[in-house]
Amino acid sequence: MHGRVTGPRETERRIGEIRARARTRNADLLAHNYQLPEVQEAGDFVGDSLGLSLEAQKSGAGVIVFCGVHFMAESAKILNPEKTVLLPSLSAGCALADSITPESLLKWRERYPGHTVVTYINSSAEVKALSDICCTSANAVSVVRSLPGDRILFTPDRNLGRWVARQVPEKEIVVYDGVCPTHDVLRDASVDRVKLGHPDAIVIAHPECREDVLALADEVCSTSGMLSAVERHPEARTFIIATEWALIHQLKKRFPGRDFIPADGCIGCRLHCPYMKMITLDAIERSLRENVFDITVDPEDAVPARRALERMMAVPRDR
Ligand code: 13P
Ligand code: SF4
Repeated sequence: MHGRVTGPRETERRIGEIRARARTRNADLLAHNYQLPEVQEAGDFVGDSLGLSLEAQKSGAGVIVFCGVHFMAESAKILNPEKTVLLPSLSAGCALADSITPESLLKWRERYPGHTVVTYINSSAEVKALSDICCTSANAVSVVRSLPGDRILFTPDRNLGRWVARQVPEKEIVVYDGVCPTHDVLRDASVDRVKLGHPDAIVIAHPECREDVLALADEVCSTSGMLSAVERHPEARTFIIATEWALIHQLKKRFPGRDFIPADGCIGCRLHCPYMKMITLDAIERSLRENVFDITVDPEDAVPARRALERMMAVPRDR
């Protein structure tokens, strides 16, 4: 049923049906900012990785339908072992999370004894379980600053790790060699070209972008942090957005009078996360109807992974 073409009224009707079914199942729909616009519209809560983890804990529902990728649903399960957490498609993985395995982390830890391991939430439960603390793009700098140790091993995102290292020069930060292909594909040359047509635009970038792109940015923040960043520029009309294209749906909704342009100048072309787009209205309907796919985590990993996540959640957002 993928690829079915429907008009806006039909989409609205299906969203209404999904929401009604969710209520009868005592289910909350949590949706990431990169979800398809219609999936965002179906969500009870739309946010970034940190916001979704916090919301999963606050939710009074017995079932969480996680409209995001696997590591996010897994984190929600680790934090809420008593709840049923459903991921509507098992194809919703994450290339960055796959770039580190427990075996590769153990090798890195051996090479850097005495380092505190800070692991980005974009990682498996097994990798989190081998880490001292987690972070998201919304609190990575504060997490690293909060640690008593001065020697850090930051995994797995190289671009985020290097960006944190530039903000916290007083600590020695060794960075693992993983990237998010969706963000790492962008170059400063593309942003410069878009900026030529909009010289007064404010550039907002996600810290998973490369250093050359971040050097052009007026603001560097998590996906939900980008909404607050727009508020900090009341005079600006146009914004160039260096992250996955679907975030622009939230920005347009919140700020209807402003213009938002994808940083590659091409909506839906390169700044596209194929994993996030595995979650469709069809998949959510099936998830609610058939109770799929029930996310489980081995308790041997869940207990230490929860410790690393809870340590992170005690640290406030960067701003
Ligand atoms: P946020 O935590 O900023 O929403 O980012 C998650 C992510 O996967 C970015 O690629
Ligand atoms: Fe993973 Fe990148 Fe997709 Fe985020 S955008 S979920 S880091 S592949």
